[in-house]
Amino acid sequence: MARMSLDDKIGQMALAQPAEDLADAIRQGSIGGVLNLVDREATNELQRIAREESPHGIPLLLGRDVIHGFHTILPIPLGQAASWNPDLVRAGSRVAAEEASAAGINWTFAPMIDIARDPRWGRIAESPGEDVFLACALTRAMVEGLQGESLSAPGSIAACAKHFAGYGASESGRDYATTHIPDNELHNVYLPPFKAAVDAGVASLMTSFSDLDGIPATAHAGLLRDVLREQWSFKGIVVSDWESIPQLSIHGLTADDRESAIAAANAGVDLEMASDTYARHLAEAVRSGEVSMAVIDDAVARLLKLKFELGLFEDPYGPAIEDAQASRERALQIAHEAALQSMVLLQNNNDLLPLDTNGIDKLAVIGPLADQPYEQMGTWIFDGDPERSVSALDGLRALLGPDSEIVHLPVLETSRSREFVDLEAALEAARTADATLLFLGEESILSGEAHSRADIDLPGAQVELVQRLRAIGKPLVAVILAGRPLTLSNIVDEVDAILYAWHPGCMGGPAIADLLFGVESPSGKLPVTVPRAVGQIPLYYNARNTGKPPLPHTVVDIDDIPVRAPQTSLGMSAFHLDVAHTPLFAFGHGLSYTRFEYSNLEINTPQVAPGGSVQISVDLHNSGQRSAVEVAQLYVRDPVASITRPARELKGFKRVRVEPGQTVRVQFQLHTDDLKFWMRQHGWLLEPGRFQVWVGGNSEADLAGEFELIAGPNG
Ligand code: GLC
Repeated sequence: MARMSLDDKIGQMALAQPAEDLADAIRQGSIGGVLNLVDREATNELQRIAREESPHGIPLLLGRDVIHGFHTILPIPLGQAASWNPDLVRAGSRVAAEEASAAGINWTFAPMIDIARDPRWGRIAESPGEDVFLACALTRAMVEGLQGESLSAPGSIAACAKHFAGYGASESGRDYATTHIPDNELHNVYLPPFKAAVDAGVASLMTSFSDLDGIPATAHAGLLRDVLREQWSFKGIVVSDWESIPQLSIHGLTADDRESAIAAANAGVDLEMASDTYARHLAEAVRSGEVSMAVIDDAVARLLKLKFELGLFEDPYGPAIEDAQASRERALQIAHEAALQSMVLLQNNNDLLPLDTNGIDKLAVIGPLADQPYEQMGTWIFDGDPERSVSALDGLRALLGPDSEIVHLPVLETSRSREFVDLEAALEAARTADATLLFLGEESILSGEAHSRADIDLPGAQVELVQRLRAIGKPLVAVILAGRPLTLSNIVDEVDAILYAWHPGCMGGPAIADLLFGVESPSGKLPVTVPRAVGQIPLYYNARNTGKPPLPHTVVDIDDIPVRAPQTSLGMSAFHLDVAHTPLFAFGHGLSYTRFEYSNLEINTPQVAPGGSVQISVDLHNSGQRSAVEVAQLYVRDPVASITRPARELKGFKRVRVEPGQTVRVQFQLHTDDLKFWMRQHGWLLEPGRFQVWVGGNSEADLAGEFELIAGPNG
């Protein structure tokens, strides 16, 4: 750095898009990194120029969004979250990193770890869902998968935890919108996954487009310096989001690009993505004293440190390309397993599923998403290879073989279509088939960045299609492919079984076939609440109790309200008159092809001191006929605290395979650290008192117990 001029240093703080003059800019030392260039020859040439022709031979960061796979696309992150399987998520991130690094990428803008409680928000698709504990576990897994044992190891790429912070709280689910996050909520809900990423050694963080109480995250020194640097001792780099620095004047924080560059640099943004306010204004700002040289030096030191850690000075071109076929097959196997474990069996009336391959001579496959290998890959699939994607129809054909007759009629050209095509033929197929599978949901474009929806019902004429098929009077299986939880109240009583496949990625088709026909039992559990109606949103399980929680029986049908009903006659609590206060499907819900029973909850001690742990154990019995995996979940409540705490919070989960008739003992270790909460002006607190626990297969678990946290030596 001592050899670098101010301009050289500011050059390192620019992350540029591919452009005509890029090679020259790199040769002049004006670029520190390039994003969205995925061509190994091109990136090798740019690295060569950087190493051999630029003033100091500093190699480039080469960034790309690898959100759920690179060429081999895995289920969307929300779907992977439904597996509740950090080990599998880690493996998925690893194959994504290996494929990306083989293409010359050395840095990715993942994991996205924004807690999301609003399914109208298009980016819920790439989030880990609504729960802090699950999000933290998955965050650690994704960072470890992407970065491996060492950033310089073959196949490792630098990760980037995003979007710091609170982006998922955008008002009304509209992307980029204002957020209102009180300090306690920020520290107890939205920041913990980022702390988990920092503790897991994440190389970088990306600032959010959104603002926090009037201060956009990209200029928020409280976040970027006080929390990230002072409290968390983060040593990695902070990159802005796409042009989020010049957007500061659109927010209304600054008057122009010069002021925006100063605000972002002083707040702690080390690297500017896509825009060039740093290149145009920082040198002058340093000379005028509005930005100190120390700010520049700190940023550049962190950027250089990351490049050394990535081994780019020794080998700027990255690892030799592995045996593509072998790694491709391994990637597809992991994608298949991830798809299998991500899907959630929401409903299975009369145990209609699994279907029997021998009992099906004729299968009706109806709906717009049965044969859409592109759509099933979901959002953020920049480099996804559609050739690797196997649709449900092809998965079914492969599983059932040539002797089964499969009649496929989309009836709706796209998920948004309102005109039926060949409806009569579809109705006839359903009449004469041994089973009818309905493939419904959203095309991939209906979720993802800037793709929020105000109405999250099935789009187009899909509901009418279900009703027409219902009239046939034969059992219906619905498979839903979507980037978010959809409000399914208008079909839930029309179909017998619902398998929620999210956007399941390349191997979604074979996985759907395997689950529908019982090759494997579904094991996925909802990482987000499924609301009955969009008007319930935000609706999430770990809400605070309020002073007047809805009573369990509070189910009001607006049509049943007596005329002139007295003001207080319907119960005075937190509910809507026109929809039940409960979700359609609860966080943590997911069925399998067997029955699980929980009993005999034991806590190894009635009291625990700060720093200790309690062990909570239950019997988990498989009373059905099939082997299956259950995700046993531990929930905790702190019923009395200095700020009111959620009525339930996930504090443990375990995936357990149980054979039919078998009972296994499931044990959870609950450390008192997991009972802490953050309180404004007090920081993290651990308060003595009674704690309630529940264990079960979803967030409505009722097998209960309790223990007491006693005061520690210092109170
Ligand atoms: C986008 C997204 C961010 C992404 C970046 C680069 O606007 O907000 O998540 O990593 O730009 O594509």
